Amino acid sequence: MLPKILILLCAFLPEKATGSTVKPLRYNLKILTRLDAGGARNLFEGIVSIDIEATKSTRFIYLNSSDLYILKRKTWLLRWASGKKLSVLQLQKNVREPRVVKLVIELPLRYGEKYTLNMFFSRNFNQKGHGYYASYYDKTPKVFYSMTRFEPEYAQTAFPCFDNPHFRTPYNITMVHDRKFVALTHMPPIKETPYDEIENYVSTTFMGSPPLATHQVMWTLHSLQKVYSGPTATGENITVWSRPHLAKSLAKVAEMTPKLFRNCETLFAYPLPKGPDWSGKLDHIVMPEYTELYSGQGLMVYGEDKVNPGRRGHESLQGMLAELVARQWNGLLVSSSDLNEVYVRDGVNYYLSFQAMGMEKEGYNMTYLLRTRLDVLYYDSLAKEKAIATDVRSTRHQKLRKNKMCLLIHMIKVAISDKLFFKGLQEFIKRYANSSALTTELWEELQRAARQTHQLPIGVSLHTVMESWLKKPGFPLLTVQRDDEKQKVTITQKHYNPKKMDISSKDCWWIPVVYIVKNLPLSQVEWLGCQRKKADILELKHIVNPKDWLLLNVDAAVPLRVLYDSYNLQLISTALLQDFTQIPELSRAQLVDDALSFAWSGLLPYNVTLKVISYLSKETSFVVWETALFHLKNLQGIMRLTTGFRIFKLFMKKLMKPVFKAAIKSLPMKARTSPEIPNIPKIFLNTTKTENKTDSSLPMILYQPACQFEVKECLADAQERFQSAIEQKSISSIPEEIRETVLCRGIRNSLEDDWVMVRDMYFEAKNDKDKSILLNSLSCTTEYWAMQKLLKWALDPEMVPSTLTAGLLSAVMRSSLGYYVGKEFLIANTAAILNRKDFKLILNAFVNVITTKDEFSSLNNRLRSNLPASQKSTISSMLEPALDKVIWRKSLYFDLLKAIRDLTLENGNSNSSVQDSP
Ligand SMILES: *[C@@H]1O[C@H](CO)[C@@H](O)[C@H](O)[C@H]1NC(C)=O
Ligand SMILES: *[C@@H]1O[C@H](CO)[C@@H](O)[C@H](O)[C@H]1NC(C)=O
Ligand SMILES: *[C@@H]1O[C@H](CO)[C@@H](O)[C@H](O)[C@H]1NC(C)=O
Ligand SMILES: *[C@@H]1O[C@H](CO)[C@@H](O)[C@H](O)[C@H]1NC(C)=O
Ligand SMILES: *[C@@H]1O[C@H](CO)[C@@H](O)[C@H](O)[C@H]1NC(C)=O
Ligand SMILES: *[C@@H]1O[C@H](CO)[C@@H](O)[C@H](O)[C@H]1NC(C)=O
Ligand SMILES: *[C@@H]1O[C@H](CO)[C@@H](O)[C@H](O)[C@H]1NC(C)=O
Repeated sequence: MLPKILILLCAFLPEKATGSTVKPLRYNLKILTRLDAGGARNLFEGIVSIDIEATKSTRFIYLNSSDLYILKRKTWLLRWASGKKLSVLQLQKNVREPRVVKLVIELPLRYGEKYTLNMFFSRNFNQKGHGYYASYYDKTPKVFYSMTRFEPEYAQTAFPCFDNPHFRTPYNITMVHDRKFVALTHMPPIKETPYDEIENYVSTTFMGSPPLATHQVMWTLHSLQKVYSGPTATGENITVWSRPHLAKSLAKVAEMTPKLFRNCETLFAYPLPKGPDWSGKLDHIVMPEYTELYSGQGLMVYGEDKVNPGRRGHESLQGMLAELVARQWNGLLVSSSDLNEVYVRDGVNYYLSFQAMGMEKEGYNMTYLLRTRLDVLYYDSLAKEKAIATDVRSTRHQKLRKNKMCLLIHMIKVAISDKLFFKGLQEFIKRYANSSALTTELWEELQRAARQTHQLPIGVSLHTVMESWLKKPGFPLLTVQRDDEKQKVTITQKHYNPKKMDISSKDCWWIPVVYIVKNLPLSQVEWLGCQRKKADILELKHIVNPKDWLLLNVDAAVPLRVLYDSYNLQLISTALLQDFTQIPELSRAQLVDDALSFAWSGLLPYNVTLKVISYLSKETSFVVWETALFHLKNLQGIMRLTTGFRIFKLFMKKLMKPVFKAAIKSLPMKARTSPEIPNIPKIFLNTTKTENKTDSSLPMILYQPACQFEVKECLADAQERFQSAIEQKSISSIPEEIRETVLCRGIRNSLEDDWVMVRDMYFEAKNDKDKSILLNSLSCTTEYWAMQKLLKWALDPEMVPSTLTAGLLSAVMRSSLGYYVGKEFLIANTAAILNRKDFKLILNAFVNVITTKDEFSSLNNRLRSNLPASQKSTISSMLEPALDKVIWRKSLYFDLLKAIRDLTLENGNSNSSVQDSP
């Protein structure tokens, strides 16, 4: 027996590309799924009938099939010309290519003739979240569902196929399943008939689909409820499936989606195919505990966590949908030829979602660009990050890939101009519509558009540029040196390295250097090269007058940081103080971000950084403040535990007071009528740009720090709102974004009765969001007994749902009393905490408040002696952020204090002294 198998295994040498002998024309797929079958195992089986055309005369067919159970005697062909059946003599597998099956047929197929290949297959469900998989939510009882995820190449684990993205064929799908499940796929169902062989089973047949690649095929069985169903203004039928409690939050989905389709159609300048042959329906499936974003023809799947009530929740849901909608063009209409590159597609779509949303709400694209940038510049400068071309299966890395790719698309857009970028993108969609393309083909199309009007120098190839970014981790630091005597500016690059490790790194990038100078707001682009792995030096002559500032990386063009020489930085600081509007908003955000990051890592002294940011007291831009607060809150977290806090607080108060006073005027005192969501979405209404640019976002983000730094106007406002909430016994009058701050302030200053009142509101609250706000604000108490009580509840699921525990403990550790009581709590409850599934989240609450070496060692030792050996390796990465703070406090704390004092003295205020210890 053994020798025979060996012969079979070696019997064929792999040939290139599937289908070198035949070409698939249509799939007929019938899948029977046993899901939640009363004790029986979950499994599926099916019959696939593939119409093929022989592209040469051959006795062999190479097919992809992985982990499927297939049988020779249940595999046969039908010759169309004669109606005769051909049997298959052998099914061969080769160890070197485990995903390929070679079919040996009794008679050769004839060139150009058509056949139908029929195969039976079956398989137990795998639970890994790819291929055709089964899963469940809830525990008592478990609620099962099944779902497909065939990207990048898992279709072959669900049915035997020619798994090659170049083949696009129509699909006829029939699903046989327990009648308690709803079956969905790309197309609307055309009939449902009882399936006689199994009790309670039905057979659902769907309309034939338009041509799809194997990885685009999708289907699902679920028992969610239909919470919305109706036609859009353009005639497509939208159905939303979810658990009933989300119905209200999802009510707007049917209204949002068509708008996003319209916006994307404008961006791509290409209408999607329409009409009943092309589905004409869109199902939104909102699955509990689902962490991916997945979509295909006529189907979109996302998790319940993407759906949140309120204005912010509404916006983020819409942004996520915009991504999925963009994928209908870039992903479905044009698919990826190389599925290892889908991260590029996802990054492009993420970027386009900003633009599509920007058409709904002014400023959205800038806000999200900067948030993405902040995130990328932080994570991509950590030592352990990998190049984004590398496929590491961690959530963190996958997010970095998408986010960084998004910024790189922005880079191309700025470098070649908006107009040419969209022209190139539109050409790309037009050229490759209904087929597949590589990312290099996208770069080529963009480059072609740019070359036509000489927006890209001949020496710069977009392909090379992108390779330099995709294939290495991190990002560059540009150093700018002015020589005003020689009228020369020298720009150099090196790997940005905040922790000064790996100094010898000679990495370089292709960078469009986009600059403006004072009085010349039209930006110029020069390229800084990286030829033969050696960084060029860019020398620009006569571009700037001696007394004028020079500003690089305008429009946040490239994900990088810019270090100016002290003279230029001084010119910029002065300009900001004189009239900050002469410097564009995106640049101000970058200047503040860079200055605070450089100071944090010691690249720039704090006295210089404070000069840059001291103009913030006049700054009215939401995005600039959001960026600034990201860093300042981090500093606050350390400073509050030092004796220098009083001085820091004075400085911050001075910075925030003027802008807060001005901003709070736009904050309504009465509750903005909370977004009443009508039951029937007004899909026929075109609500145009509903929100003003000067909406109330700025006071919302300033509110918490302003109260924290004791800006009088904030304290008074909070007190007033708190009193009125207590009188009304309801927090709904307080705008959602500032609820926690208002309650916290109130509780801190009020009587025990109020604490008890808020506690009762917590017990009565319905949704998790309200619960978490009420609970966290209870931790602002200054009463020892109240704090102890709260901590006693923290680990008791009867009192505090386990999803809220980590948030509560973070809030406790942020309060001044809680900081001490919480530490004791950790010592007393280490074992109980480490036993929990979410122990890392909980530990974060304690890691975040570490600022000294002693605290660091003590937590480190505690973890080392209490965690099981298998977990010990994660300790150091868990503690990494804390280590940064310990180092900062030791080395830069005085620098900051001294800088604040000098600045205050300079401004004629000498009553703060610096004699505190770190
Ligand atoms: C499918 O099979 C072909 C051989 O016919 C092979 O070259 C190809 O890599 C396989 N595709 C996948 C996605 O496994
Ligand atoms: C596939 O579906 C189409 C449309 O329903 C139908 O006309 C066709 O006969 C089906 N193809 C096969 C091979 O059954
Ligand atoms: C939407 O659904 C209705 C009723 O189910 C159907 O008549 C109509 O053809 C559908 N529209 C499209 C575009 O498929
Ligand atoms: C945001 O969109 C507006 C209008 O489409 C455009 O003018 C602006 O350049 C965009 N900003 C960014 C940062 O993409
Ligand atoms: C910052 O401090 C250093 C010395 O501590 C001093 O040489 C430098 O001039 C100061 N810079 C500014 C802008 O005040
Ligand atoms: C929707 O917008 C279009 C064009 O912008 C306009 O013609 C139409 O009257 C609007 N419909 C409603 C209901 O406002
Ligand atoms: C937008 O702002 C203008 C002027 O500040 C104001 O009159 C208008 O009512 C605002 N619109 C909305 C929808 O808030």
